[in-house]
Amino acid sequence: MNIQTQVQLKPFNTLSLDSVASHYVKIQSADDLPKAIDYAKKQGLNLLILSGGSNMLLPEQIHALVLHMDIQGIEVTAEDAVDAAVRIGAGQIWHDFVLWTTAQSLFGLQNLALIPGLVGASPVQNIGAYGVEAGEFIQSVHVYDRYEKCFADIDASDCKFSYRHSIFKDDPNRYIITHVTFKLLKSADLKLNYGDLKTAVGDNLTAENLQNQVIQIRQSKLPDPKEYPNVGSFFKNPLISQNEYDQIALKFPNLPHYPQPNHQVKIAAGWLIDQAGWKGKKLEMVGMFHKQALVLVNYDNAALHHVRAAYQAVQQAVFAKFNIALEPEPVQFDQDGLICSH
Ligand code: EPU
Repeated sequence: MNIQTQVQLKPFNTLSLDSVASHYVKIQSADDLPKAIDYAKKQGLNLLILSGGSNMLLPEQIHALVLHMDIQGIEVTAEDAVDAAVRIGAGQIWHDFVLWTTAQSLFGLQNLALIPGLVGASPVQNIGAYGVEAGEFIQSVHVYDRYEKCFADIDASDCKFSYRHSIFKDDPNRYIITHVTFKLLKSADLKLNYGDLKTAVGDNLTAENLQNQVIQIRQSKLPDPKEYPNVGSFFKNPLISQNEYDQIALKFPNLPHYPQPNHQVKIAAGWLIDQAGWKGKKLEMVGMFHKQALVLVNYDNAALHHVRAAYQAVQQAVFAKFNIALEPEPVQFDQDGLICSH
C-alpha cells in the first residue's frame, strides 16, 4: 500500500476540477481496505471514496485520505440455460464491461453503453439510461462494511434501488463497494421503449445494434468529457405530483413528462433549462452544453466556486419561470472530504 501526499485529482474527475488531496492511495485489492482505513483512523483523516470521478464535485483542497478504487477482475460465477452471474471488480470501466457482456452474448446492459465511470459506482446512484437501470440486473453488491468492520454481500433486494438512488446514497459513510455481481440474460430481450430508440434500431433487432445505436445517440447529444469536461446530466429530472403537473401543463403543454408510479410525474430538466434560456449559455468559464442543456461543462479550468455560481444561476432561472427546484445529480464534497449539501 503506497500512501501518497498532495496528489492532484484533476485527471481523476471528469469535470476536471483542480483539487489536491492531502493523502491518496490506490486500492487494487479488497485486502488493502482494512489497512487503509486503519491508517486514516490513526492520522485522524476522513475517507473519500473515488471511483471514476464522473459524478462528483471536488473542492480545491481536500484534507482526507482519498481511496482510489482500482480493483480489477471479471468472472462468471454461476450459469444455467437462462442466465449467468458475472462478478466484476469495482475498478473496471463500465463501458468496457458493457461491451464485454455483448461480446459474450449476455444481455441486459446494452442500453447503458457509454455511461462514463467505473463499475463500483453503478449501484450507488443506480445508473440508468434509455429505459433501463443498472439495479434491474444487479444480483448482489460486495462491500466492506465500515460500521461492522467486515466484508459483506448485500442482496439487490436490500439495496433499495430507485431513480438515481440506493442505500449506498442513504448512508455514504458505511459501505465501500469492492465488487458487483450482475445477473445477465442468455437470450436478448431488447428494451426499445425510450424515445426514438426503436426507430434508430429499425429492423436489425440485435443486442449489438441496440448497443451501437445507444452509443450513437449519446455521442450525438452528450459531450465527451475529454473534450468538454462534464459529469453527464447535472440535474435530476424532477419528480412532481400529478396535481402539480396538471397545473404546470395548463401553461406549458409541451413540457416532456413521463408518468411514474404513485401518481407522480417525472419531467425533463433539460427542457426546463432550455426554455429558461440556458442552453448554450455560460457564466464565466462554466455553461450548459449547446446540444443538451442538462449537461454542465467546465470550458476552461473552472474551480468549484465557478461551477456553483453557474448551477445556482440555472436553478434560479428555472425556479423563476416554472416554480420548480432543480436538484443537482453529482455529489459535492467539502474540504474535509465529507459529502455536503448543495
Ligand atoms: N430537451 C430539450 N432541450 C435540451 C435537452 C432536452 O428540450 O436541451 C428535451 C428533449 O427533447 C426530450 C426531453 O427533454 O424531450 C428529455 O431529454 P433526453 O431524452 O435527452 O433525456 P434527459 O431527460 O435529458 C435522461 C437521463 C440521462 C440519460 C437519458 C436517456 C437524467 C437526469 N438524465 O436525460 O442520464 O442518458 O435520459 O435515458 O435522468 C446521466 O444521468 O448522466 C445521464 C446522461
